[in-house]
Amino acid sequence: MIIIRKFQPPDFQWVIDIERKVFDEHDPYLYMQFYETYPETFLVAEINGIVVGYAAGFLASAGTGRIFSLAVHPAYRNRRVGGSLLKEIINIFLKMGAFEIILEVRSSNIKAKRFYERHGFCQSGIAEKYYLDAEDACLMKLELHRNN
Ligand SMILES: CC(C)(COP(=O)(O)OP(=O)(O)OC[C@H]1O[C@@H](n2cnc3c(N)ncnc32)[C@H](O)[C@@H]1OP(=O)(O)O)[C@@H](O)C(=O)NCCC(=O)NCCS
Repeated sequence: MIIIRKFQPPDFQWVIDIERKVFDEHDPYLYMQFYETYPETFLVAEINGIVVGYAAGFLASAGTGRIFSLAVHPAYRNRRVGGSLLKEIINIFLKMGAFEIILEVRSSNIKAKRFYERHGFCQSGIAEKYYLDAEDACLMKLELHRNN
């Protein structure tokens, strides 16, 4: 069973281990700052007491939620962990009054783009050379409707 809950400080090492496996591009201490600044929109997914994924987002401006990072440990993919994290963070943003959610993915990350599209996101633009290695980012957006 997948449990989605708010990040707590003892989860830090799990989150950092997943981040290192998956991205290895964010400063680990950013995640503690995330917890201190945006505790409502920093979630983890737990299976049998193991943290297997996380989603970190924040309300970027009134009405606009931004997903900063969402990742699932490679050994736990394709079991709806990512989908459960995404659905929960979308719900939280809705409750916070957001009318849209934005995020970026590497343009080569076809799996993540397909994942977000399946959850209703559309491509809204390209940010050229967005990443440190000069890869473009694909900008994606979900328009939220309060009645669904
Ligand atoms: C993108 C990512 C978060 C998806 O996580 P996940 O836990 O595998 O997501 P889900 O299980 O909800 O969905 C993944 C796929 O499994 C399929 N799936 C899920 N449960 C399934 C089931 N019970 N039976 C069959 N297929 C299933 C889904 O249809 C989906 O298919 P898709 O490849 O066409 O999208 C994960 O691949 C990841 O961490 N990638 C690296 C980090 C990243 O790119 N993050 C996004 C940028 S911030």
